[in-house]
Amino acid sequence: MKLQGSETKAIVGMLQKAPLWAGLNEKELKVIARSFKELKYESGDFIVHKGERGIGFYLIVDGTVEVRTDGRVLSKLGPGQFFGEMSLLDGQPRSADVVALEPSKCLALSSWNFNSIVSDYPKIALKMLKECVRRSRISTQPPGE
Ligand code: CMP
Repeated sequence: MKLQGSETKAIVGMLQKAPLWAGLNEKELKVIARSFKELKYESGDFIVHKGERGIGFYLIVDGTVEVRTDGRVLSKLGPGQFFGEMSLLDGQPRSADVVALEPSKCLALSSWNFNSIVSDYPKIALKMLKECVRRSRISTQPPGE
């Protein structure tokens, strides 16, 4: 579903609450907000499948998702957090499944818009990189540590 102009303001409000976009002014956020599409999921829906080609970046607006790989839960993510960045950054297949644990709403960016935003705003790229490194440490830790 493409966002209507009237929804842009609400998206800007949401982006202002998410740490990733902190530091961007309202004009910049308005431009970014227009690139998002709103997507809704039911409990149990796979939003991202491990091994598939990545075509989207997701910001959680409502609900909770679980990141899983090989039967292991890597993380639970909620409003303000993001996923799907890894495949878009390195062009490799999705590193994990991401499954909705309850009815959830995400804002999604296509890889094209994602790349353009990351190139335009190095501060966002740096924050994302830090989170990526943190996630990859968790993913490579032996289970139970
Ligand atoms: P991507 O590989 O594109 O698709 C699966 C996503 O799960 C991945 O991007 C990250 O956004 C997310 N992910 C992978 N590992 C972790 C982790 N350890 N903690 C939180 N999220 C993760």
